[in-house]
Amino acid sequence: MKFIVFEGIDGSGLSTQSHLLKEYLLMNGKKVLLTKEPTDGLIGMLIRNTLRKRIKFDEMTLALLFAADRTDHLANIKFAHYDYVISDRYYISNFTYQSQTIDLNFLIEINRYARKPDMVLFLDVKPETCIERIIHNRDHIELYENIEQLKLVKENYLKILKSMQSENNLVVTYIKGDKSIEKVNKDIISALTEANMLENI
Ligand code: TMP
Ligand code: MG
Repeated sequence: MKFIVFEGIDGSGLSTQSHLLKEYLLMNGKKVLLTKEPTDGLIGMLIRNTLRKRIKFDEMTLALLFAADRTDHLANIKFAHYDYVISDRYYISNFTYQSQTIDLNFLIEINRYARKPDMVLFLDVKPETCIERIIHNRDHIELYENIEQLKLVKENYLKILKSMQSENNLVVTYIKGDKSIEKVNKDIISALTEANMLENI
């Protein structure tokens, strides 16, 4: 079983690309679970409502809710049933988005028991392009979806991924995400091949 995680700022194509990768693996006869954080569980619902600005929590409570949603998420995944589990966002989102206001070491600590991904795919897209995509494709704008936030979050991602790579041996691949959907999908498949993640395909 391989646990693959997609990360990137809002509008970078995480849902589109994780879906296409799932389709590719299914076509090749693999057992695949595509899942997402925040989840559609009870804690995820609190988070979704916060992102939609319908309810509000203080920053610490929200950080803990994201982590609690993750433990709930993991408790419900039967990893052994699949060849691939793909998650659209995981704890690196918690580190990058919430470390704007909460101590990064604390965020790492509350995620200590979360299963380590075998590979993280970071979709690298300019914040300006992401905002355009969000405005174009959706009828509402969520909590972090503004240019200033996305610029800060992107800087945070690059810093945190680099340190996770060197200090925690996290396998991170950076994918240029501003090309066509098909090209990005091809690049992701090539990256997986290079990382020996596609056995018998
Ligand atoms: P989405 O836009 O991919 O649906 O993700 C929801 C938002 O929640 C996105 O702005 C990233 C943010 N987020 C966090 O701030 N912390 C987390 O731990 C996770 C999983 C997501
Ligand atoms: Mg979003």
